[in-house]
Amino acid sequence: MTIVLKLGGSVVTEKEAPETVDDAALSQAADDIAETDEAVVVVHGGGSFGHHHAAEYGVSTTAGTTNPAGVSAIHGAMKRLNDAVVTALTEKGVAAVPVHPFSAASRDADGTLDLPTNQVRTLLAEGFVPVLHGDVVAHRSEGATVLSGDELVVELAPAVEADRVGVCSTVPGVLDDDGTVIDRITAFDEVASALGGSDATDVSGGMVGKVKALLSLASTASVFGPEALSAFLAGDTPGTTVDGGKTK
Ligand code: IPE
Repeated sequence: MTIVLKLGGSVVTEKEAPETVDDAALSQAADDIAETDEAVVVVHGGGSFGHHHAAEYGVSTTAGTTNPAGVSAIHGAMKRLNDAVVTALTEKGVAAVPVHPFSAASRDADGTLDLPTNQVRTLLAEGFVPVLHGDVVAHRSEGATVLSGDELVVELAPAVEADRVGVCSTVPGVLDDDGTVIDRITAFDEVASALGGSDATDVSGGMVGKVKALLSLASTASVFGPEALSAFLAGDTPGTTVDGGKTK
């Protein structure tokens, strides 16, 4: 069984305080990950490490910068967070190793991502837990743009033939109009109105984009909060199950 797990930036950092790890939350997540014997690829978001540097230099997933200081500021902050995540996992006995997307990935002018994944597959086969992160990425005609953790999940899940995908964020699942967790989503139409309609844009990687991306995967995905991470890793389907019906 292979699992791709995204830890949202707001789960592992204190989002309001620049470059501050939420030590208690990260340590709990590391404990939960240490409990599973499955092959896991971890992807974490930016939280208070990536986003304010990206905002300072005006960089998003579509608007780039050619300022090397901007690239280094965003990438450097994300490497510091990645180091904290890898260290927390290592301290709990997880065979975690860092993988930095900026060193390998690129985008075409139309935004299409090219992410080499051989090293991730090989690391998994050798028993490691690769830990990737949202980052900056070389982007033809834009300089460098933000690469979100959600995009990495969508690229990695088919590349490692993931059986399950978990998206752990600060909400307990995909919420409907009343704030109730939606149990299961099999098509975007079912939730379009609750999520603000199919035209809603969310370049920041909000729920609309997440759900659309997860529906396109062959792996069944779960969206849940930190309190359900251990249940997810034990094989449960907490929060919202997103299953677009595609098979591997
Ligand atoms: C953002 O990654 C990475 C940078 C800002 C460099 P995500 O968009 O996946 O981060 P979170 O999970 O929303 O914080």
